Amino acid sequence: MTFEAMWRDLHSVGRSATSGGYFRQPWTSAESELRAWFAEVTVARGLELETDGMGNQVAWWRPVAPSDLPAVLTGSHLDSVLDGGAYDGPLGVVSAIAAIDVLRARGFEPDRPIGVSVFTEEEGSRFGLACLGSRLVTGSSTWEEARERRDRDGIFLGDAVAASGLDPSTGLLSLDGVGCFVELHVEQGRDLVDRDVAVGVASEIWPHGRYRFDFEGEANHAGTTRMEDRRDPMLTYAMTALAANKQARLAEQRATFGRIEVAPNGTNAVPSRVTAWLDARCESDDALAELVDAISRQGSERASLDGTQLSVTAESVSGSVAFDPDLARSLAAIGDWPIIPTQAGHDAGILSAAGIPTAMLFVRNPTGVSHSPDEFAEMADCLAGVEALADTLAKLAS
Ligand code: GLV
Ligand code: MN
Ligand code: MN
Repeated sequence: MTFEAMWRDLHSVGRSATSGGYFRQPWTSAESELRAWFAEVTVARGLELETDGMGNQVAWWRPVAPSDLPAVLTGSHLDSVLDGGAYDGPLGVVSAIAAIDVLRARGFEPDRPIGVSVFTEEEGSRFGLACLGSRLVTGSSTWEEARERRDRDGIFLGDAVAASGLDPSTGLLSLDGVGCFVELHVEQGRDLVDRDVAVGVASEIWPHGRYRFDFEGEANHAGTTRMEDRRDPMLTYAMTALAANKQARLAEQRATFGRIEVAPNGTNAVPSRVTAWLDARCESDDALAELVDAISRQGSERASLDGTQLSVTAESVSGSVAFDPDLARSLAAIGDWPIIPTQAGHDAGILSAAGIPTAMLFVRNPTGVSHSPDEFAEMADCLAGVEALADTLAKLAS
């Protein structure tokens, strides 16, 4: 089965007929279908499949002669953001399987195991913690903390995992024998377009975080309450969103309020509460802390003018990641690929922070659009990515 055939297999899974975007949240039927698909295509290739108690998966291509050499791991994720694109995640998984096909067709025999991994809840779209699967596998988060997280419907993560037939007490994947990790990913910007190349290598991931802003006010009648008598948390939120945009522009960093909940959410009432989630990303950990501080401070100042209250809670923070520079240089030399930074988070960042030498390959995205149904990559570039990954795995597994 070719790359194109695998890509077609995934086309309709979790796809919205309205937007054409994907809803592949973890521990839902769409994600179970993707997990079953991964099992089917990897087992059909004679790979040795492991699925852990959270739903993380690895399919192993073992050398003919048993080897104690550290393994090469590649892969990505199959979950999506809400109404996401087809490429973010699945491109890395499908390319990894296709790269094994390419290597086999070339007659290549690995000297060390090559694994294709799928980490669950990479986007944190359901339980709010980015890269949950890889965090648990590397021990940077614990199951005891994670299981208490709730989704938007109030369902505990522990219950969602159990309801999908998985049991974390059966254990999690072990990365003990893994010597390096390479994640191929669609580029989520326009750097490669500007450079007119199909493939790039990552240098670093900007630190980033998600912060919950709770604005408390007083519910009241939208008609009879004089403007000067209101304690309107929507107003405080609106001014805070403007401040976030301004502060990020001034500092040449990134800040986004992409999610908001309003109570009671009625047209003819001043709201009692607004909860908004800030996504902030900066070129250094200090810059991130300063940006979030500046936005929180301006929000609190505005709250005191509005008679409202603001509290800020960090829900998911990922520190700065510098990928192994020797590995990046040696992979870039394979195809004279440029080495570029990214502002997007990845499981590769978590594995790198856990001390595993890690690299990323990016595949050109002609518009740069991502986390959107419009995310796209040309098939020729996807196939160039598969060849690049095959060359990379051949170099690392020899
Ligand atoms: C994940 O793709 C993120 O950057 O939030
Ligand atoms: Mn993403
Ligand atoms: Mn991704």
